[in-house]
Amino acid sequence: MKKLHALIKYVQHQILAKSPASIQNPSVKEAIANILKDDHRFYMFSVIESLRAQMLLSSDKIHVDDYGTGVSGQRKIRNIASRALKSATQGQLLFRLVNHLQPTTILEMGTSLGITTLYLSKVNENCRLITLEGSSEIAETAKANFNKLKASNIELMKGDFDNTLPEALANLNPLEFCFIDGNHREKPTLKYFNLVVEQCSEAAVIVLDDIHWSAEMSHAWQRVKEHPKVWVSVDLYHLGVVFLKATGTRGHYRIRV
Ligand SMILES: C[S@@+](CC[C@H](N)C(=O)[O-])C[C@H]1O[C@@H](n2cnc3c(N)ncnc32)[C@H](O)[C@@H]1O
Repeated sequence: MKKLHALIKYVQHQILAKSPASIQNPSVKEAIANILKDDHRFYMFSVIESLRAQMLLSSDKIHVDDYGTGVSGQRKIRNIASRALKSATQGQLLFRLVNHLQPTTILEMGTSLGITTLYLSKVNENCRLITLEGSSEIAETAKANFNKLKASNIELMKGDFDNTLPEALANLNPLEFCFIDGNHREKPTLKYFNLVVEQCSEAAVIVLDDIHWSAEMSHAWQRVKEHPKVWVSVDLYHLGVVFLKATGTRGHYRIRV
């Protein structure tokens, strides 16, 4: 059912999505147009992708605790790397978005092996980044990856989001950029979003992953767009980007990537 839902939403997106020129809010239009048209390959991209390639080749097994996948037990790192991580294209899109916005505080919910965390962190090594992961051995693998790439600005907090999120938010107050990529169900997603949005700076940007992965997630995305603090939302199909800065025209857009 989830696959069928995602497929229907994908076809709908292809039909209804427009170019960034359709965005009426000038600063959001500039941000989205910039990140979609910029094809500069930053040096760090190949470094991070080499690390992903290592993960994709690794037959080492680690213990995975069930945080939403329905699977717990021993799993090969290469299976986690091929299924749980954002693609290179999406990681690089997030890098460009962070590069455009230049936040000084970033929160990622859902570290997995840390590949997207590295994209978020390598834009500006003076930026404070906290990433949250519940599965202990996955978190240790991510930490080893951060060390390999000398990413000293990443703090990883281990534990269930319910326990780590309040402390992370207190440490990052005000939060300027957040990537929510874990526990893709409606109620938890809305709970996390509602907590995060209250600690955000006025001009913060929140990105939600897999907004059309299931009917529950599409519904969560609809509710997010209706939140009174959301000024502009941009549906890129895989990612939903929310701009809080209450200037310029308010609106909701579907944009073709
Ligand atoms: C989709 S993966 C994250 C992928 C990562 N952002 C990337 O693109 O490289 C989601 C991760 O969130 C973790 N997770 C899910 N629900 C969680 C929860 N309630 N508390 C802590 N971690 C959770 C899972 O263990 C999993 O590793």
